[in-house]
Amino acid sequence: MNTLYPIFLNIEHQPVLVVGGGMVAEQKIRGLLDAKAEVTVIAPSISAAVEELAGKNKIIVHRRAYESGDVGGFFLVIGATDDKTVQQVIFNDAQSKNVPVNIVDVPQLCTFYLSSVFQKGDLKIAVSTNGKSPTLGQIIRDKIRDEFADGYPELLETIGGVRPHVLKAFPDVQSRKELFRRLVQTELERLHGRTQKGATRPYEDFPQKGKVYIIGAGPGDPELMTVKGLKILQSADVIMYDALVNTELLSYVKESAEKIFVGKRAGAHCKRQEEINELLVLKAREGKLVLRLKGGDPFIFGRGGEELEALQNVGIKVEVVPGITAGIGIPTSLGIPLTHRRHSSSVVFLTGHEDPTKDEQHVDWNSISRIDSIVIYMGVKRLHFIVDQLIQHGVSPLKPAAVIFDGTLPEEIVLTGTLEDIGEKVHKHSMNSPGLIIVGDVVRFVEPHAAQAITAQSPQPALQDTYQ
Ligand SMILES: C[S@@+](CC[C@H](N)C(=O)[O-])C[C@H]1O[C@@H](n2cnc3c(N)ncnc32)[C@H](O)[C@@H]1O
Repeated sequence: MNTLYPIFLNIEHQPVLVVGGGMVAEQKIRGLLDAKAEVTVIAPSISAAVEELAGKNKIIVHRRAYESGDVGGFFLVIGATDDKTVQQVIFNDAQSKNVPVNIVDVPQLCTFYLSSVFQKGDLKIAVSTNGKSPTLGQIIRDKIRDEFADGYPELLETIGGVRPHVLKAFPDVQSRKELFRRLVQTELERLHGRTQKGATRPYEDFPQKGKVYIIGAGPGDPELMTVKGLKILQSADVIMYDALVNTELLSYVKESAEKIFVGKRAGAHCKRQEEINELLVLKAREGKLVLRLKGGDPFIFGRGGEELEALQNVGIKVEVVPGITAGIGIPTSLGIPLTHRRHSSSVVFLTGHEDPTKDEQHVDWNSISRIDSIVIYMGVKRLHFIVDQLIQHGVSPLKPAAVIFDGTLPEEIVLTGTLEDIGEKVHKHSMNSPGLIIVGDVVRFVEPHAAQAITAQSPQPALQDTYQ
């Protein structure tokens, strides 16, 4: 019966002694170097191949006979010498100093055995015959290799990539085990082409390497980011973030994560959009988990759509995680309901700053002026123009309007008035921070008393109203 206890030993940077310098020694030395051990050879003469390894400073060689006590300080000893007396001395020395020893091809002088090994990637399979027949061990190893060389190492890679996320997300051992079982099962079915139509991978929800996540960070308050976004943030290897992103969120990232600011500061772009796209591709191709973190929602006036296209065009895996856009997060946090059964049946999000390179400007002020709640991004610098357009197209100069700077943040400033006087109020503040304009009756809700008053004055809604 084979009572050997199978273990895989980590001998990286550990000192290992090989006694002997011939062909057998060379083979053992190469295996030890693959395991990154620090190898010392003691032998009166050495082969050309061992000489070459010494010449390249891969091993240390002492050209002399073995002397009793040489094993001291070594983690392992391998005796690759035919001299029976020396074999016995090495074995006795090693035993007396508790150093594991293997005298090649002399099982009775071994406290550990080397096995026939198949290795590809991180998959390593070792076969032991209890020292009885290394040749049979090799044949068995080759059969295993034929069975498992294709697909399994890659499978191991995939599962290994998901493992840290599973460990983090499932502290409960039982549910974790169950997930791993399903995960391996699904992947094996996939490998053998037995995947059921429409079957999904149980780990598809976990953040993956070599993939870009375009994620919305919310309107400013870090707590307004989604839980999904935060989970990915905690796993990301690279975070490329904009000026609108609250940097408090960066305290959640891994210590080793690379943080790259790609936003706009003091009116100057740090990186052009094309450079950002290229960097996203580059980092994903390095096999990293890349997070493109954008203020608000990535697709609302955020150029997230362009980044998505650029990544898809070159075949990079990409996923978009929505965020709370400023136009929703700011009014809602202020108690301004953009829709309300009695006061607002329509909302529009508008940019006050259309791309000047576009052939035609698309804002149709005639249509906009008929919308109940108008939310304008990037419009503060053109506030006078916007107010003029709305009034010219029929909106009352007394229509409530608000401009909110640094919305949802502790330094938030809320200026309220009417279309007629809001420009003047903003002018007095001359703020440099991002500002959001809201026009519509619902703006009155920002003052709780005023809101009660308008609700009281309004006619009661019909019962079949659909708003919840
Ligand atoms: C380039 S857009 C990005 C919008 C972002 N993707 C979103 O969904 O909120 C920037 C504009 O969003 C508005 N904005 C974003 N965050 C804001 C905040 N905390 N306070 C006020 N306005 C904000 C401002 O109008 C600002 O000029």
